[in-house]
Amino acid sequence: MREILLAPSLLGADPLNLEGSIKALNNNYDWLHLDIMDGHFVRNLSFGPDVAKALRKKFPDDFIDAHLMIDELETILPLFINAGVSLITIHAETEPHLLHASLSEIKRAGIKAGVSLCPPTPVRNIESVLELADLVLIMSVTPGFGGQKFIESSLEKVRELASLREVHKYNYVIEIDGGINENNITRAVLAGCDVIVAGSAVFKNDKPDEWLVNVRTKIKEAMKDFE
Ligand code: DX5
Ligand code: ZN
Repeated sequence: MREILLAPSLLGADPLNLEGSIKALNNNYDWLHLDIMDGHFVRNLSFGPDVAKALRKKFPDDFIDAHLMIDELETILPLFINAGVSLITIHAETEPHLLHASLSEIKRAGIKAGVSLCPPTPVRNIESVLELADLVLIMSVTPGFGGQKFIESSLEKVRELASLREVHKYNYVIEIDGGINENNITRAVLAGCDVIVAGSAVFKNDKPDEWLVNVRTKIKEAMKDFE
């Protein structure tokens, strides 16, 4: 059975107590998803490199999945490369002419490299970098804010990426981010997602640890039925 990873998005956590929010998950997560927003690429601001560094220090063994929704890659990317995160995802819409160079820069630093697509961007825009990618992130909402409605057509792109991976023997995992809840999570997995990001569904729940345990069971059952 494929391994499915759950990645709670800290954008949905208590901004005044990130540590407490993470501890409340009781180690039932696989990755910590950290959204970086610059107020230009998206209409919101979130965490900076110091937060990434502090997370790394406090949770030395955790896999920190940084999702950069930023312009000015040449300035900002090195700050996150030096912050100690485990994986950095950049957007295909950000300075597309730098996509190869930026993914290579991340990998040269020994960090896993991901590329992300906003809902209107087709998979063909990243075909030339798929061989470089460790992860492809499909945004299933317009990036910028938690708590939005899942865009169902995102799953078509997930299926397309899964089939391209099979045909070309690429190595990326497929991640989905935005509007994931207990009602659509198994559809995302069955479409081919390997890593599931969830912000509001996890952290707005009174028992976020139980939510993670329950969806993991639900996913296993759905996969068993399918295989
Ligand atoms: C949105 C972010 C997401 C966000 C998801 O731009 O990339 O990671 O936290 O939040 P939910 O799960 O509430 O849609
Ligand atoms: Zn994200």
